[in-house]
Amino acid sequence: MGIEIGGEWTLAESCFDSTVLGKCEAVMSLGNGYLGLRSATEERYVNEKRGLFVAGTFNSFGGVAESEVCELPNAADFLEMGISLNGTDFSLTQGTIQAYSRKLNFATGELHRHVVWMSPDGQKYQLDFYRITSMRNLHTIAQKICITPLSADAEVQITTGINGQITNSGSQHFSEGAKRFYDKKYMQLVQTTTQTGIEFVITTTVSGLSNPHIAMDRRKIFSVFNTHISKNQKLIIEKITTVHTSRDKLSEGMSTAKLQSIALSNLQDQSSLGYDEIARLSAESWQKKVWDNIPVTIDSNNPRDQLSLRFAQYHLQVMAPFHDNRMNIGAKGLSGEGYKGHTFWDTEIFALPYYIFSQPKTARSLEEYRYLSLPGARDKAKENGCVGAQFPWESAWITDGEVTPLLGAADIVTGLPIPILTGKIEIHITCDVCYGVWQYYMATGDEDFMERYGYELVFETANFWASRLEEGEDGLLHINNVIGPDEYKDEIDDDAFTNYCAGWNLYLAMEYRDKLEKSNPELLADLEKYINYDLWQQKVEKVYVPKSREDGVIPQNKTYLSLKEIDLSKYKNQKRVGSIYNDFNHDQINEMQVCKQADVLLLMLLMEDAFTPQEKRANWDYYEPRTLHDSSLSLSTHSILANDMGDFSLAYSLFERACAIDMGENMHSSNDGIHAGSIGGIWQCAVLGFGGLRLVGDKIRLDPKLPEHWKRLEFYAWLQGQKFKIEITQNSIQIDNLTQSGTIELEILGNMFVVRNRLKIT
Ligand code: BGC
Repeated sequence: MGIEIGGEWTLAESCFDSTVLGKCEAVMSLGNGYLGLRSATEERYVNEKRGLFVAGTFNSFGGVAESEVCELPNAADFLEMGISLNGTDFSLTQGTIQAYSRKLNFATGELHRHVVWMSPDGQKYQLDFYRITSMRNLHTIAQKICITPLSADAEVQITTGINGQITNSGSQHFSEGAKRFYDKKYMQLVQTTTQTGIEFVITTTVSGLSNPHIAMDRRKIFSVFNTHISKNQKLIIEKITTVHTSRDKLSEGMSTAKLQSIALSNLQDQSSLGYDEIARLSAESWQKKVWDNIPVTIDSNNPRDQLSLRFAQYHLQVMAPFHDNRMNIGAKGLSGEGYKGHTFWDTEIFALPYYIFSQPKTARSLEEYRYLSLPGARDKAKENGCVGAQFPWESAWITDGEVTPLLGAADIVTGLPIPILTGKIEIHITCDVCYGVWQYYMATGDEDFMERYGYELVFETANFWASRLEEGEDGLLHINNVIGPDEYKDEIDDDAFTNYCAGWNLYLAMEYRDKLEKSNPELLADLEKYINYDLWQQKVEKVYVPKSREDGVIPQNKTYLSLKEIDLSKYKNQKRVGSIYNDFNHDQINEMQVCKQADVLLLMLLMEDAFTPQEKRANWDYYEPRTLHDSSLSLSTHSILANDMGDFSLAYSLFERACAIDMGENMHSSNDGIHAGSIGGIWQCAVLGFGGLRLVGDKIRLDPKLPEHWKRLEFYAWLQGQKFKIEITQNSIQIDNLTQSGTIELEILGNMFVVRNRLKIT
């Protein structure tokens, strides 16, 4: 059981288990940045979680419960197809399965399920289900279903349409709108989100069958078809669907009737192409955008390595709303209800580097989202008695501000839901946003972005820190009552990560202000109202940054090193993350030396030139044994650091564990959706870790150290507006400038080089 390698490009499942449907629904989910579709099956099962999410369409269920914050609504389902064969419903929980496979092909984005099924009455059928979400026409989803009776002729009944009875785990986000059949051929359902009033228009058509009985029900419109197929004859059914919403940039201000007619005409165009052509065009886009353009190629004797990178690139592509800068990436992409579609620091720290180096336009769009969210960030700062911009820990629509829920899972001791404090005090997100701007600018040199958005973001985040710092009895400035990256420590003072990064944010603002004074005094004058240079300087000199002890260990926060120690081996060897919560509640965990995820060690990666190799080693030796990797964000950071420290086989095994978070054997780890940040981390392990491409200080550095069994790693990187191909073997580095119009300065293996057309170092 589990997820397997189905070929160089394919993730596969080779047996069906109706109790673990969530895994493949998520890891094999389809999408195109505009929408995401969980790969639920056509026939329905008790444990399934169907899901269609359209980026940016947030709605709040309302009601009085504190846990009901806005989320991406789970829109109507159209994948469902009831198939009755000679009077028996096709279902893999009855009869016998004689052959089964489900495969997602990353090259084409096509999902294919193949089944040979013996019905309880002894009749054999072959069924093949194909499906894609189009990369060419972002509104389109195409399905093809082939049914062949193998024992005798079959009377087939197909029931399918659009079902708006779907909810987000019980929260119905839509009021019912118009339902309509056009020409007995096209079915359309309109649903409107209850609070934000976003209209969804879903339109579908079925071909290969005729004379439908058409029907409507509450929130449902469907057709029933009856047909006869002879033994060994193949019935081919195609179902083409389009999804449009009033949130689409092009439909802004449009009447419902107009949106309905656009949706219908797009469906007419698309369905006239037919499944195969839609799939071909979509595969062509995949090829052009990703696989011919920016592939990461690994020549390793473990085929899982290459597949993991393809898995990562596939999901990084389908999760990113590159079409609209008012939207960002959810912690579960568009592949499930988990984290409600909200955006976290996962974007800047874990996913953004991929886009910066591979698809800088998408990276820019993700950072523009932060700029567009500035009004909410300014309000949040004000609410907390500060100035400048304080970014929400969880973000949704650009005007929503903070959307973190207030209550979480059960507390083993009190029996009550655990209060979630992250939205109030996990404030390092504000420097993470600034770090995102810095990374983007460093790698791209995109001055236009900085002038329009970037400088203001850096100055306003610095203003927040200047107002948030508190003077202590020692005359230094402290940051009290926060949560750092390690969410197992609540309400702590002087979190090393937060304090270092806040200080850095202030320095960066000063540096950029000085730079503008020379390069663009006019812009500097325009930005004057955001600039408090003297204040930043006064503050930055007095920020308390925890220094290392004699043994090199940096206290994670004011109290961490004096907390109780317990034997963590049981939790270090756990099968499922978070098992410590079965024995202790959050308050008890808060009093122990245990970390959920990389914290001080992450700081040592992000600010790598601020720490010596000895400090890195000392902190690794101290913190890693105390870290449970209960956040999916933890393992990739550890892998990269281990590689930096020369622990090569450990680095590789941590990389493998990072890949296994979604692709591994735990059949429940992805139920609520894939782990977007962790997937960004897979790419980081390969390119930033083993490939050694880094942004350090004011330099772009290349210092690769491949795992022993990797013969070659090849990737593409956009640097300062030029595209490079970088090929690394065990004893050579070759860099080709594919733009061939400029040069780039790189630090390679400790020496500075200017790369013109090609540089080869052996
Ligand atoms: C992690 C956070 C992360 C969030 C969303 C939490 O479990 O501790 O660091 O941002 O998940 O991925």
